Amino acid sequence: MTTVKYLMDGGNLEDIKYCNEFFPLAGVTTNPTLVAKEKAEYWPLMHSIREIIGPDKMLHIQTVQTTTEKIIEEAELLRDKIGGNLYIKVPISEEGLKATMQLKKRGFGVTVTAIFTPAQALLAAMAGADFVAPYANRLDNIVVDGTKVVEDIMQQFKLYNLNCQVLAASFKNVEQVHKCALCGCSAVTISANLFKHIISHPMTDAAIAGFETDWKDLYGDKTILDF
Ligand code: E4P
Repeated sequence: MTTVKYLMDGGNLEDIKYCNEFFPLAGVTTNPTLVAKEKAEYWPLMHSIREIIGPDKMLHIQTVQTTTEKIIEEAELLRDKIGGNLYIKVPISEEGLKATMQLKKRGFGVTVTAIFTPAQALLAAMAGADFVAPYANRLDNIVVDGTKVVEDIMQQFKLYNLNCQVLAASFKNVEQVHKCALCGCSAVTISANLFKHIISHPMTDAAIAGFETDWKDLYGDKTILDF
C-alpha cells in the first residue's frame, strides 16, 4: 500500500507556495467557493497555481457546469489552458456521472466530489472516477461520523477491488485528518492552516525552548558554525 497523499485545499497563492516549500505536497484541490474567496481573475490564478506546483503534481479543478456537454467543454478548456497532471472535479449527479464516463473516454483524470455516502461513492467509482471526495467535516456537522464514512468507502472499494482512490476533504481539525490516515485513506486535502496545526504541538515548542536555553547557558550566542 502506498502512503496517504497530502494535498492542499485552497486557492491562495501564498498558502500554496508556503506549503509546497516545507512539504512534498501531492497536489492542490480547489472548488468554486475556494476560488471565489481569492477575488482574483480566474485564468491567471489557475496558471499561477500550476506554475507553483509544476506540471507533475495533481491539480484538481472543479467544473461550474451542470450538464454533461458543458462539463466536457469546460474540461477540454481546462486541459488546453492549464494542462499538467489535471483532475476535473465533478459534483455527483446524474449528469455528473454521465460526464465522468465521457471524460474518462477522453483521457481525463476525474474526481467525483461532494460525496456524503458510501453508496454515492460506489456509483462514482463504477462510472470510472479516479478519486471520490467525501466531505468529512460537513458530515460531522450533521452528527454523522465523517471519518467512518471515509473508512466505509475505503472498505467498499477494497471489497470490490475497485480502482478508485478516496480523496477525503472538508477537514476542520487534526483528529479528522489523523483518523483518515489511520484507516488507510488514499489521500486527504487540507487547508494551509490545518497543516500548521498538524505540525505544531505545545510540547514540541517546550522541547525546542529547552534546547535553546541549555545551549545558551554554556555557549552563549555561538552556534556549531562558530567552532
Ligand atoms: C475539496 O476540495 C472540498 O471541496 C473542500 O474540502 C470542501 O471543504 P469545506 O467543507 O470546508 O467547504
